[in-house]
Amino acid sequence: MARKYDFLVIGSGLAGLSFALKVAEHGTVALVSKTKISESNTWYAQGGIAAVTSFPDSYEKHINDTLDCGDGLCDIETVEMVVSEAPKQISELLKWGMRFDTTPDGTFDLAREGGHSEYRVLHHKDRTGTEIMRALIEEARNHKNIHLLDHHFAIDLITQHHLGSTVTRQMDNIECYGAYVLDVHRNEISTMLSRVTFIATGGIGNIYQTTTNPVIATGDGVSMVYRAKGLVENMEFVQFHPTALYNPGERPSFLITEALRGHGAILRTNDGKEFMHKYDKRHSLAPRDIVARAIDTEIKLRGEDHVLLDATHLEPENLIAHFPTIHEKCMTLGIDMRKQPIPVVPAAHYLCGGIRVDKNAQTSIKRLYAGGEATYTGLHGANRLASNSLLEAIVYADRGATHALENFRSFTFNEVIPAWNDEGTRLPEEMILITQEFKELQAIMTNYVGIVRSNLRLKRAFERLEIIYRETEELYEKSVVSTQLCELRNAINVAYLVIKMARRRKESRGLHYTLDFPNKNRIV
Ligand code: FAD
Ligand code: SIN
Repeated sequence: MARKYDFLVIGSGLAGLSFALKVAEHGTVALVSKTKISESNTWYAQGGIAAVTSFPDSYEKHINDTLDCGDGLCDIETVEMVVSEAPKQISELLKWGMRFDTTPDGTFDLAREGGHSEYRVLHHKDRTGTEIMRALIEEARNHKNIHLLDHHFAIDLITQHHLGSTVTRQMDNIECYGAYVLDVHRNEISTMLSRVTFIATGGIGNIYQTTTNPVIATGDGVSMVYRAKGLVENMEFVQFHPTALYNPGERPSFLITEALRGHGAILRTNDGKEFMHKYDKRHSLAPRDIVARAIDTEIKLRGEDHVLLDATHLEPENLIAHFPTIHEKCMTLGIDMRKQPIPVVPAAHYLCGGIRVDKNAQTSIKRLYAGGEATYTGLHGANRLASNSLLEAIVYADRGATHALENFRSFTFNEVIPAWNDEGTRLPEEMILITQEFKELQAIMTNYVGIVRSNLRLKRAFERLEIIYRETEELYEKSVVSTQLCELRNAINVAYLVIKMARRRKESRGLHYTLDFPNKNRIV
């Protein structure tokens, strides 16, 4: 039997939870999350959320910093809209119980990160995401209209395709009626029907060998929308965070927040020399694409495994008070950041492209909205400004909720959707086939589609990926559906989109840097 909800929300990070809380006053909500509710990129966010809250900062400065980072590809109207709606969304977070750090005089304790010309990042120590999730999960658990379904994996969106119609990317009347969802513990696939579906499935970091993202980030939402023939854009812009802790074998990589550089920490080579002056006048606080490429260049030139982030000159008590999580983590590896520099390397961190949405968070598929890291809104362009992603997630959840509430009653449940079709002889797959393919995918993306690319590397990546794509599709056809197999399929799909869009771009811009078209204005 199909389950019916006014709103089906897929994903329980900031985008999904805040959308759910905003629509729940007016209808029933199922919020599905593929592992535990808290596991999300949001949970791990450290630095904070950017918003203009006081003089001498201004919307104009925040807008200009965002445009500058975006390297000419931001949508200016979107940037203006998001920046000017930020303070209202900060108030909403406070209303839900979020605790931002404040100074003794009661104003927000603002931090600074790369690319920001002012101190404007609101935070909760160095674990802002964990505090956001604490507050929102508590609110959602207490809401009678929200059904939190953990360990529920969305496999595919339901459209006319499932009623036997041919659906093409050129069609402008594709409709979403809900999703097929696997209850991971019971191993049952339900048909979940909805008036409105909201995708908030986050990023794709796990297509790379080294990432700051938790294992949930496999691009499921982007891939589901692409399979349903929705529009996906700007996938070539994958952001590498310059400073993940160098600790070989640890997955995900532990992040060393950019706020530490905002606090005064300095990047150095292993012989103690500052090097960022060679690359940008903002030194260690240049935009992320520039810093990550500079570190990559230094590591390759010198044949070393990492560079160093030096905080030893900073006032020790203040340092620990602001960055307790980083201090604790470093101490587990025997590094006392008050006395020793921290070894760091770049790691895949954030997807700037994704599902195309308009200013109301509507995708190209009717009745389907999306928000957060899974989307392409035009805010980030070719490179995201630090701490603008939590902001984007909450602004677009709000805009999507407002628009969906105006329209959802006119969308009826589609009662003739068939149950999930699992016919034919299907056998449980051998796990080694999945894990090995995943490792191959990560090696291809890391070696050929990383911080520095070239036509030849991208061509190689495309040809290698085709092989594992074919093998995985064959496996999918004959196997029992499982989370791991679906994730592999989705990860291959988003990797394909990254490579395809990277090959199409005949220039270096922002995060997409290619040896065949060097950009002398911006890069190393
Ligand atoms: P997520 O928070 O990633 O949530 C995705 C949800 O979707 C999860 O619940 C997941 O389980 C669920 N899901 C995925 N696929 C499925 C499926 N098939 N079925 C069911 N559920 C599914 N940004 C900032 O602005 N400031 C920061 O300080 C900052 N620090 C960061 C630090 C780290 C270590 C990382 C990794 C990211 C950081 N970012 C930061 C980026 C930011 O955290 C994310 O972009 C943002 O939290 C994304 O929110 P989201 O709601 O879109 O997705
Ligand atoms: C960080 O704290 O350095 C991450 C901030 C971000 O990804 O926006």
